[in-house]
Amino acid sequence: MAPNQKTSATALASAYEPIEQELVETTELLKSRLRHVDPTFDAYLEYSFKLGGKRLRPALALLCGKAAGRIDNRCRLVAAALEMIHTGSLVHDDILDGAKFRRQLRTINARWDSQRAVLIGDLLITRAFELVCECDDSHVFRTLASCCKRTVEGELYQTESVGNFSLTFDDYLKIVGGKTASLIECSTSLGAYLGGARGEELERFARFGRLLGIAFQIVDDSLDLIGDEQVVGKTLGTDLENKKETLPLILFFQNASEKERERMFRKIESGVKARDRAEVAAILKESGSIDAALDEANKLVDEALDVVGELREKARVEGRKNADAPFDSLESLARFVVKRDV
Ligand code: FPP
Ligand code: MG
Repeated sequence: MAPNQKTSATALASAYEPIEQELVETTELLKSRLRHVDPTFDAYLEYSFKLGGKRLRPALALLCGKAAGRIDNRCRLVAAALEMIHTGSLVHDDILDGAKFRRQLRTINARWDSQRAVLIGDLLITRAFELVCECDDSHVFRTLASCCKRTVEGELYQTESVGNFSLTFDDYLKIVGGKTASLIECSTSLGAYLGGARGEELERFARFGRLLGIAFQIVDDSLDLIGDEQVVGKTLGTDLENKKETLPLILFFQNASEKERERMFRKIESGVKARDRAEVAAILKESGSIDAALDEANKLVDEALDVVGELREKARVEGRKNADAPFDSLESLARFVVKRDV
C-alpha cells in the first residue's frame, strides 16, 4: 500500500469505529448475497466485490442510523444494497468511460468484455432491489428507486453534455447532483430513516449526504485531472479524453482571457489523450482553477459540518444516548472527502 493510501485507510478506519461491528456484518451479508447466485456468474460477482472499495455508502447509512437512534437488521440490508448499487453503477461507468483499472484491478470490461460488464452491472443492481424488498417498507423501496432514477438521469445529462465546453456551475450541479450525490444522499437519508428520524431531522440527514456527495465528486473530478494513477488506483484523465467538462475546466473558461480560452479549447476539443493530460492539468493548476474547484468543495463540506452541528444539538437536547461518536465520525468523513487523494 502506498503511504497516501495508508493515511486514507487509517482515517477511514477511525471514522468507521462506532459501527465497526455492523460494517463487518454488512460486508459479510454483501459477500454472502453475491455468492451462489449461479455458479456461472459467481466469479464475476466475487470479482466485482473487490471493485467497490471504501465502503463509504454503507458506512454512512450505518453511522446515520446510529446517530438517529439505532441500527437494526433492515439498516444492514439497505447498507449492503447501497454498496451493490454503487458497485453496479461503477461497472457500468467504466464501460462508458472506457476505463481499464479501478481499485488497482482491471475493470470488468477490460478483464472480460463490455457485454458481460453491462449484464454484471445489471445483476448487481437487481440483486440490490431483491435485498431491500426484505425490509418490506415502501418508503425504503421508493427512496432507492428514485435515487437510481436520479443517478441515471445525472449520467445521461453528462452524456448529453459531451463536447460542450460552455457548461455553467448549475449544469455541473445537475450532473453530479444526480450521478453521485443521489446515492450518497440516499445512504444518509435511509440510514437515518431506519434509525428513527422523521420530518425536518430526516431532511437534514439527507441534506448532509447531498452536500457531501457533490463535494466528493468535485474532488473526484479534480483527481481525474491532477491525481496519480498509482495512488488513486484507477484510470485517470477519462473526463478529458471523453470531452466531459468538469468544474475545474468550467471555472477556467469563466475566468481566463479570450486568448487563454482559445488556446485551451484547441487543446481539448478533440479529446486529450492520457499522455497529454499533464500539460492541461498544469495549465489548470497554474490558473488557480483546480484550487477554485476545491474551494467550492470545501464550502460544501463546511455547510455539511453545520448540518451535523444542528443534528448533534437536537440529539443532545433530546438526551439521545451514544450519539456523539457517530456524529464525530460524520464530521471526520466530511473532512476526509476533501482531503483524500484516493
Ligand atoms: C462515476 O463517475 C460514476 C457514477 C458516480 C455513476 C454512474 C452511474 C451509471 C453509469 C448509471 C447506473 C445505473 C443505475 C440504475 C444506478 P466518474 O467517471 O466521474 O468517476 P470515476 O472516476 O470513479 O470513474
Ligand atoms: Mg468513470
